[in-house]
Amino acid sequence: MSALDQELRRRAYEEKERLGKIASSDPYRQHFHIMPPVGLLNDPNGVIQWKGTYHLFFQWQPFHTGHGAKFWAHVTTRDFVTWEEEDIALAPGEWYDRNGCYSGSAIAKDDQLCLLYTGNVRDEHGDRETYQCLAVSKDGKVFEKKGVVAHLPEGYTAHFRDPKVWEKDGTYFMVLGAQTEELKGSAVLFRSENVTEWTFLGPIAGAGSGSLGSFGYMWECPDLFSLGEADVLLVSPQGLEADGTEYQNKHQAGYFLGCLNTDTPEFQHGEFTELDRGFDFYAAQTLVDDKGRRILFAWMAVPDQQEDGHPTHDYHWVHCMAMPRELSLSGGKLIQRPLPEMKALRTDQQRGRLHLSRSAGRLPVKDAARTEVLLEDIFTESGFEVAIRGTARFIFNPKEGMAVLERTAFNGEEKETRSCAITDVHTVQLFMDASSIEVFLNDGEEVFSARYFPFPGNDEVTVTSGGNTEMNVAIWTLL
Ligand code: FRU
Repeated sequence: MSALDQELRRRAYEEKERLGKIASSDPYRQHFHIMPPVGLLNDPNGVIQWKGTYHLFFQWQPFHTGHGAKFWAHVTTRDFVTWEEEDIALAPGEWYDRNGCYSGSAIAKDDQLCLLYTGNVRDEHGDRETYQCLAVSKDGKVFEKKGVVAHLPEGYTAHFRDPKVWEKDGTYFMVLGAQTEELKGSAVLFRSENVTEWTFLGPIAGAGSGSLGSFGYMWECPDLFSLGEADVLLVSPQGLEADGTEYQNKHQAGYFLGCLNTDTPEFQHGEFTELDRGFDFYAAQTLVDDKGRRILFAWMAVPDQQEDGHPTHDYHWVHCMAMPRELSLSGGKLIQRPLPEMKALRTDQQRGRLHLSRSAGRLPVKDAARTEVLLEDIFTESGFEVAIRGTARFIFNPKEGMAVLERTAFNGEEKETRSCAITDVHTVQLFMDASSIEVFLNDGEEVFSARYFPFPGNDEVTVTSGGNTEMNVAIWTLL
C-alpha cells in the first residue's frame, strides 16, 4: 500500500470520527437502508455472496458531501438485516486511480475475492484518463491492489468505466460502460482466461446500433446476466430525452432483454424499460446467491438531480442505497420484489379491512419513519390515493390507467410527479424509512422509489377514495 493510500485512509477514518456523531443525530438518518457514515454515497459496487457472506461495496466520498476522488467503502451481511461495517476496501492512492477508485464489480477466483474497478485519473491539463484495475483479497477484508489490467481501446473517449465481471465455462467476461468518439453511449465486452490479462472484443450494444437510434451520450454501470429464458443487460444511460411518462429523471436506469453472443460479439435485444418509476434510482447492479436468487442493489438517487437540495448536507452526509430486490422474469418483464429477509424487520402487526365510499381513512401508523404498509385485495372503481406524511402521495387512477407518485420537491415548495401506465392495481406495498419511500405495485410489477423529507414527527398516512374502494390493510413498525 502506498504512503498516499495509507494517509487517505487515516484521513477518512478521522473524518468519520470527527463528524460521525453529527451525521447520526440527523432525524433523516435512515433505519433500514445503507448510508455513508459521513460524506457522500453513490453506486453499489462489487456486490457478491462469497463464502456465505454478502458483500456490498459502495462509492464513497468521505471528505465532503459532493463527488470527487471516490473510495470503496465496504459492508457485509448474512441476513440483509444486520450489516457490519468493514474497513475501507479501496482508497484512491495510486497513480492509476488517484482521482477515484470508480465503480466496478467482484468475482471469486482461486479462493480469492477479486475486485475489478475503474481507476479515474485527471492529467495535469485536467484531461481524463481511465484504467481498469484489479485488487485481490484472501480474507474478504483487506484488498491488495494489482494495478492496471485493461487499457482504453481505440474509438472511445475516456468515459469508459464500471467493469462488471462474470465467469462462464472457465472464461471471464467483462462488460463496461462507454462513450464512442462519436459521443454515443455504448456497452463493450472484454474476455480473459485469468482476470489479469484482458482482450477487447468490441461493442455489444449502444446508441445507433441494432434497433436503437439516438440513445444517450454515455452508458454507465452495465450489468449482464441470464435470467430464466433471457439475457438481461442493465445499464444507466445518460442523455435520453423525456418522452411522455418515460425518462422523466435527469438520467435513467433500465434494462434490455435479449440474447448475448460472446463470439460475434453482440447483444441482440428488445426495447429499453426503466427499472423504477420514481425519482431516485440509478446504477443498479446484481449478484446471484447460493439459493440461485438474482438480487439487485441500486443507488437511491440520480446524478445531477437535486443532489444539492438534500437537507442532510447540513449533517455532513448525503444519499443511501435502495432496498435490495429479488429479480424474476414474467411475461417479458422484470419483476422486482423486496427480499423476503425484510420480513424479519416487522414488529407490532396491525390488520384490518378498509371500506371507503367517497371518504378517507387514516391508517393507525405508529412511527411513519419506519413502517411497512401492505394494501392487498384492493377493489376500486374510481381509484384511490395514499397521502404520506404530508410530503408524498401515491395515486392510482384506473380511468386513466395510471399510477402516480407525487412528492414535495426538496426546496419544500413545488410538487413534482412521476408516473407509469398500469390498468389494475391490486396490491401496494409501501416501505417508509425516515427519508425515503419505496412503493411496490402488484408484487413487483412496478416500483417507485423516492427520497423525501417530511416533518420528522408527522405519522399521518391516509387513504382516500372518490368512489367505492375496499382493501385489506396490514401495518408493521420496522425494527
Ligand atoms: C455512476 C458513476 C459511475 C462512476 C462513478 C463514480 O453514478 O458516474 O459511472 O464509476 O459514478 O463515482
